[in-house]
Amino acid sequence: MAKQALITGITGQDGYHLAELLNEKGYSVYGIIRGQQNPKKNRVEQEQPYVKLIEGDLTDPSSLVRAMEISKPDEVYNLAAISHVGYSFKTPQLTADVTAKGTLNMLEAIRLSGGAKTVRFYQASTSEMFGGLDYNRPGKGYDEEALFHPRSPYGVAKLYAHWITKNYRESYDMHASCGILFNHEGPRRGLEFVTRKISNAAARIHLGKQDHIELGNLEPKRDWGYAGDYVEGMWLMLQQDKPDDFVLATGETHSIGEYLDLAFKEVGINDWKPYVKQNPAFMRPAEVDILLGNPSKAENVLGWKRKVDFPGLVKMMVEYDIGLESAGSLSS
Ligand code: NAP
Ligand code: GDD
Repeated sequence: MAKQALITGITGQDGYHLAELLNEKGYSVYGIIRGQQNPKKNRVEQEQPYVKLIEGDLTDPSSLVRAMEISKPDEVYNLAAISHVGYSFKTPQLTADVTAKGTLNMLEAIRLSGGAKTVRFYQASTSEMFGGLDYNRPGKGYDEEALFHPRSPYGVAKLYAHWITKNYRESYDMHASCGILFNHEGPRRGLEFVTRKISNAAARIHLGKQDHIELGNLEPKRDWGYAGDYVEGMWLMLQQDKPDDFVLATGETHSIGEYLDLAFKEVGINDWKPYVKQNPAFMRPAEVDILLGNPSKAENVLGWKRKVDFPGLVKMMVEYDIGLESAGSLSS
């Protein structure tokens, strides 16, 4: 019998890649979609017609119970969140309701529908929980044992979600695992995140559709991988006999300046500086200066390894945006 999976956050970047992966593996894929008129519904229906959409919202517990009844899942992947760090400073209560309490709502929906012992649960934890401080092991990177010190309402909300997931594992014997994922990007990344904002701007500047890009802090460094590689790790976590927590990362860190270098060179511009203006509106009240992950546990236990390297990722994103913008499509 085909396995059934329920994905929250189906309209997001990871929801897209995970649905592709699970469909290829023969799963019956259900996805929770929020809002009366979600503009991304058409995109999912056209590109991924195999996904069975269920209306619901992480902040509405009864809609999650209903989603459990309809999908009868073997595996639940909780990817939904207010996921933009900058936006979380502007909407801290909403971020707590969705990103923190929404995870509790999903866990309770599983438990109350009788799935505590049978349903496997994946929680989308994040490197933002580390916060870039206490970076006292240069070269080694954050692993599963590193200290948490979140630096945003998003990071704090995700830390609650992380611990409530571990608590349900310990209290109800749930097969509930947390993937502590470092930044992962790709052509499906939202335009509000810095990598896609830059790849799209480089393409538009190349095509004469835009003459500059406005960015905030250019100093931070991130451990950037490809989202397509990371959803494989999510799936692997739920195939283990025992639930556990795993860091997924590349083990490399790069600055925004390095990303700009590669993206602009991809469109034949050797010096990006004349095209970049700094705008304080994109700065954050507190910043995560550096993230570097140590994926040794995932590599050893899950056999997971990232495939796409940093230059390959930048090239993939810029090429995609050149194609999209050349075709005159709206960026998506
Ligand atoms: P994303 O593209 O921003 O997608 C977020 C998803 O959450 C969207 O489908 C959104 O739906 C949905 N959502 C927001 N509020 C909701 C609510 N109240 N009820 C139901 N759904 C709601 O994020 P992503 O990059 O795919 O990331 C997936 C998850 O991994 C997130 O939890 C993120 O925080 C976490 N994570 C991401 C990264 C990364 O680098 N990408 C790294 C670590 C952890 P709408 O389309 O309706 O807005
Ligand atoms: N978004 C954005 N826009 N970020 C900018 C800009 C800008 O114009 N200019 C500079 N930055 C800097 C941010 O201040 C941050 O230091 C860095 O670029 C990366 O920002 P984002 O791409 O928004 O990602 P993030 O690292 O804050 O958060 C992402 O990764 C987390 C995992 O570490 C998100 O996907 C989170 O959901 C995820 O948990």
